[in-house]
Amino acid sequence: MSSDRVIIFDTTLRDGEQSPGCSMNTAEKLEVAGALVDLGVDVIEAGFPIASPGDFEAVQAIARQFGDRGPKICGLARCRDEDIDRAGHALQDAKYRRIHVFLATSSIHRQYKLQMEKPEIIAKAIESVTRAKGFCDDVEFSPEDAVRTELDFLAEVVEKAITAGATTVNIPDTVGYATPAHYFQVISYLKKNVPNIDQAIISSHCHNDLGLAVANSLSAVEAGARQVECTINGLGERAGNAALEEIVMALRTRHDYYKLSTGINTRKLCGISRLVSSITGMTVQRNKAIVGQNAFAHEAGIHQHGMLKERTTYEIMRPEDVGFTGSNLVLGKHSGRHAFRDRIAQLGHQLDEKTFEKVFDDFIALCDKKKNVYDADIQALVENRQTETPDRWQLVSFHTSAGTSAIPTATIELVENGQAPVRDAAIGDGPIDAVFNALERVIGISARLQNYQVRSLTMGKEAQGEVLVEIEHNNNVFHGRATSTDIIEASALAYLKALNKAAANRNPHKPIHAQHA
Ligand code: KIV
Ligand code: ZN
Repeated sequence: MSSDRVIIFDTTLRDGEQSPGCSMNTAEKLEVAGALVDLGVDVIEAGFPIASPGDFEAVQAIARQFGDRGPKICGLARCRDEDIDRAGHALQDAKYRRIHVFLATSSIHRQYKLQMEKPEIIAKAIESVTRAKGFCDDVEFSPEDAVRTELDFLAEVVEKAITAGATTVNIPDTVGYATPAHYFQVISYLKKNVPNIDQAIISSHCHNDLGLAVANSLSAVEAGARQVECTINGLGERAGNAALEEIVMALRTRHDYYKLSTGINTRKLCGISRLVSSITGMTVQRNKAIVGQNAFAHEAGIHQHGMLKERTTYEIMRPEDVGFTGSNLVLGKHSGRHAFRDRIAQLGHQLDEKTFEKVFDDFIALCDKKKNVYDADIQALVENRQTETPDRWQLVSFHTSAGTSAIPTATIELVENGQAPVRDAAIGDGPIDAVFNALERVIGISARLQNYQVRSLTMGKEAQGEVLVEIEHNNNVFHGRATSTDIIEASALAYLKALNKAAANRNPHKPIHAQHA
């Protein structure tokens, strides 16, 4: 790879997934992995195979399905034989694969976590890189908490890991302690003091505890790092990891300064941001850079005046370059199939004929409910059909009654795997609570609602409502998302989605998290 290309290493499925309440099941991980392939990332860190049978299964499934598509599929391992072997086995069906081994090096971790002396750390790092090389040529080594490690010792570990065969050396800011100038110095020191540094790619891995993860990553790139580890929406434990979309767009928008490129298809950024948000239930703040709802809203009068005359007066990126759908008015009922197909293509989707027909039917049904259909509505229709995995329980119909002087009541009709409909009714504190109770009665699951959010997808009273729910059942967290012009229907569908996941629970909780190991 040329030296003006930055390798994008996505760790949404590993470090991102460690965020509390964000765990995904294998089907969801496969869906995100597919979107990461389309996005054009170079490496997908698919998980930590030793952590649990579920993690192993997910890494293996991703390796089998996407291992010959382009991105390297990577599995994480501690510097332990059993971890490395487990990662090697999970990845063995991938044509392009990488094992990522890590071992803490800072004095605080050596003393309190590992109780290991410096020479033992070096020996273990060499032994583990060598073992990982037995499974694949591409091995990454991370001295965990590198930023708080004595520089001379860090340089020694990095040199030895490269000699043992590490092709990438990652310099993690595990606890989000670095500042841009400090991180620049660490990378520059390694470039200067590790004799074989040119034989490996230097990588950055920044956490956002001080809100500096993206700035630090860019600083590492300026100092010579050519791989950046990041996550969609900056997902990750505590304050998260560096946000992929922000790094990619900073490099692209300021190409005049960095003179570096990535392989990312930036038009897919908003789509994958929505996908990850709906699967994990982690909503994106409105004013989040690049993918937030307000990222391209120019409200102040002076801005609008400038924008009307010349877009670039206040706009440094074009919304369409990041796949931002905003509130463009699109089509009406009479626009026809042809115009609808064109619009879908312009929004960056390629649908097979069967999916297209379903989305078109949904579009016609939506036109009956609302006069103006916007890009964001079309986007939601496509996503609903693309993320559709056959659920065990399907909603046939519901009815609610509520009011100031009535007891809120709901009746529900569901079908299970296409069998005869099942009906039940329940009361609640309000119509939505009654619907949730009725759904639970039919399915026979009692869950705890941990989070419920409703927001409008576009503007106006007739806008579709998007509902996100998070439920807890048997110590596992499940998410559901749905859209409708009727927020009670959207709530019912979102809750049903989460209950379906709980019913099919294939994601037992994890015994080990990388940094808690
Ligand atoms: O933050 C960290 O140090 C990590 C390592 C496992 C690379 O995530
Ligand atoms: Zn991390």
